[in-house]
Amino acid sequence: MRLKEQLNRAIADAYAKAGIEATPISVNEAGKPEFGDYQYNGAMALAKQLKQAPREIAERIVASLDSPLIAKAEIAGPGFINLHLSDVALSAAAQEARSDERLGVALKHEPIVAVVDYSGPNMAKEMHVGHLRSTIIGDALANMLEFLGDEVIRQNHIGDWGTQFGMLIAYLEELGEAQTDSLRDLEAFYRAAKQRFDEDSAFADKAREYVVKIQSGDARCLALWRRVINISLGHCEEVYEKLGVSLTREDVRAESFYNEHLPEIVQTLKTQGVATESEGAQCVFFGEDEAPLIVQKADGGYLYATTDLAALWYRANVLHAKRISYVVDARQSQHFKQVFATARKAGLVGEDVLLEHIAFGTMTDKNGKPFKTREGGTVKLIDLLNEAIVRAKEAIKKSGEYDEAEIETIAKTIGIGAVKYADLSMRRDMNYVFDWEKMLSFEGNTALYMQYAYARIRSILRKYGKAPEGEIIVTDALEHRLLVQLLRFEDTLLEAAQKAMPSYITSYLYELATLFMKFYEHNPILKEGVDEKVRQSRLQLADLSAKTIKLGLGLLGIETVERL
Ligand code: ARG
Repeated sequence: MRLKEQLNRAIADAYAKAGIEATPISVNEAGKPEFGDYQYNGAMALAKQLKQAPREIAERIVASLDSPLIAKAEIAGPGFINLHLSDVALSAAAQEARSDERLGVALKHEPIVAVVDYSGPNMAKEMHVGHLRSTIIGDALANMLEFLGDEVIRQNHIGDWGTQFGMLIAYLEELGEAQTDSLRDLEAFYRAAKQRFDEDSAFADKAREYVVKIQSGDARCLALWRRVINISLGHCEEVYEKLGVSLTREDVRAESFYNEHLPEIVQTLKTQGVATESEGAQCVFFGEDEAPLIVQKADGGYLYATTDLAALWYRANVLHAKRISYVVDARQSQHFKQVFATARKAGLVGEDVLLEHIAFGTMTDKNGKPFKTREGGTVKLIDLLNEAIVRAKEAIKKSGEYDEAEIETIAKTIGIGAVKYADLSMRRDMNYVFDWEKMLSFEGNTALYMQYAYARIRSILRKYGKAPEGEIIVTDALEHRLLVQLLRFEDTLLEAAQKAMPSYITSYLYELATLFMKFYEHNPILKEGVDEKVRQSRLQLADLSAKTIKLGLGLLGIETVERL
């Protein structure tokens, strides 16, 4: 149920009825229960325009308000309107939501093709923590848009092109064909190859020669290159699998995929006068104090930006995307700003295509420094995830309630969930501190708290053992608030998807779980002596709460367990 939209419609109708000729202002969520469920501040904002006291305007609006959703509208202070929603209307909506697989969330009327560019690891190295945020935020965004009905095309823009591959294949060749095993530890392989490159000038020359050979399509060098990419991609897939991320090989559109289009892109930029020559290179200039975007080097080579321009063209014109979201580190903001502006200027994408850089901050250690191993190296993502699972085992062992077999099965859900939730629950545009203790705590806004709340509710429902029925009856303020919170799900999801803010969902879920716990503390369900109709109603609230938590976490790529 789109609560806000319905309330805004009721307000707009009231304007019309009261003869207020102004663009309706939207409702706000009320911060405190005493301000009602939603607060309307529109009368204040209208005062100047209508040359009338806000309270009088508020009175006119209230007198004309007529919606089954609104039980009471109270004027407060200088002209706020506190809106109290109707239990009857809410109950009916909640009952409907409970029996719907989508929990009452409508599919978009006009779905679009949405490209989400995320993960994008570089193939010469193993995935490191720098790619964690992109991978999980991007996956959450893709899931949310897909659930709302868009046709989502996931694009994994892997870095499989560049001079370092000359060095890697020269080294692979030197080790001999049978040595692909040495690629198992890609980091060590890279280091060894780099050492050869630095120490032996003949090797370095060969590496450079191989770069040219890959680029000119030499079959043998390309075969070696493909082998490196394949193994490297295998490493990534191991990470995706462990993370429970939906990316597959079909989603890979590597940098090299766009190679054949690069000359054409530069040509277009030149003919349109968007790119101009400067010291032999092709550049796009912006402001005076802004570094230009280089699209072709003096030696004819293409760059990261050129590939991104080709990818943009492809996404807009071949995939027909109407929204293209790049889930990439905030440090690439300038790059995307310039790439988007260039693409628009050159007409590579139409005006009707939304281009957005979904920027995120850095994951840091407790001292605010970029996350590193104890030795100061980059942390391999796979090691971090394995550690999460080990730590999850310890955390649940401490509670002493599970046998070994149970611990094995739930540790992965808990550990991976903790890492993902800790990340997604932070505003993505901020840096955040990676803290094992905090993320594996049963308290606070954590995955474990949410998973525990879910399992707790499921255990109540299991104990009851039957499907509850009848009406949802509101007996007190806590039930009312829980009901409103449950029905705010669709608004929250829409907003989270629109702004690409997974943290809106985690905040919502945390509020929901906390509210449920409070409700449950005061309103017994299975206890003897509870009126049967009330019991049935509370069971339904519990059921919808569990379903909402599971769906919300699921969209974020976080699993739940039935017992915890
Ligand atoms: N490979 C890049 C990196 O590691 C990320 C790619 C992001 N996507 C894009 N279309 N540029 O920084």
